[in-house]
Amino acid sequence: MTSPAAPNPDGIMARLKAGTAAQHAVAESKPLEAALIEGSIGRVQYQKYLAQRWWIHRELETATDRAIKTDHRLVSLGLPSLYQTQNLEADLAHLQTNLESIRALPGATHLVQEIQKAAPATLMGIFYVFEGSKNGARFIAKALAKAWGLSDTARFRYLDPHGEQQRAIWMKFRSDMDAISWTPAEQDQMVKAAQATFDAISSLDDAIHAG
Ligand code: HEM
Repeated sequence: MTSPAAPNPDGIMARLKAGTAAQHAVAESKPLEAALIEGSIGRVQYQKYLAQRWWIHRELETATDRAIKTDHRLVSLGLPSLYQTQNLEADLAHLQTNLESIRALPGATHLVQEIQKAAPATLMGIFYVFEGSKNGARFIAKALAKAWGLSDTARFRYLDPHGEQQRAIWMKFRSDMDAISWTPAEQDQMVKAAQATFDAISSLDDAIHAG
């Protein structure tokens, strides 16, 4: 019997995972990510990290709203329930952040430009990277809560938006993505976009870490 969790070996999600495994290894090993997972990141740097992610998610989710209207295949993914802008705003509000004062670093600006011109498949390659990143981020939320003496991850809505539902939501996203009939050209575009997104995030992480 096939487990419901088993990804379709020929599906787009298996291609995305294999096609970005090297980039994930690079991203995961960045000093900023190490500081996050160790819970050793300073609050100022954490705030900068959230601010840059806010800049990106705002654009990603606006573009996704538009894409859902023009490409009805995306409706089945239930993407608005996965959005992160409001979670970022809640976390940033806890840190007394004035959203008006946020300025994008070059990595974020570059990604936003890509998002603005992205066709639906390209956009979903970008979306995949942020959606998949919720898997590791849940561990980061737990590490930060422990390091900062908090009893739960409620202050980390961006890093742990779904709590115990994380695994089930990720598995649903995977099977819904696999169920869409992406053309071979779209699949290529999606993998390329995901690779470029990982690269942008890695360079952004370096810029935040250096700043
Ligand atoms: C401390 C840093 C990180 C750790 C420890 C980490 C850990 C993980 C783990 C354990 C998974 C596997 C989840 C599963 O299949 O059960 C995962 C998946 C994933 N992560 Fe990360 N991650 C980190 C950073 C990142 C970053 C910075 C990004 C991109 C912004 C990212 C994007 C992804 C994606 C897209 C997947 C899904 C892979 C797939 O298709 O199955 N991760 N991560």
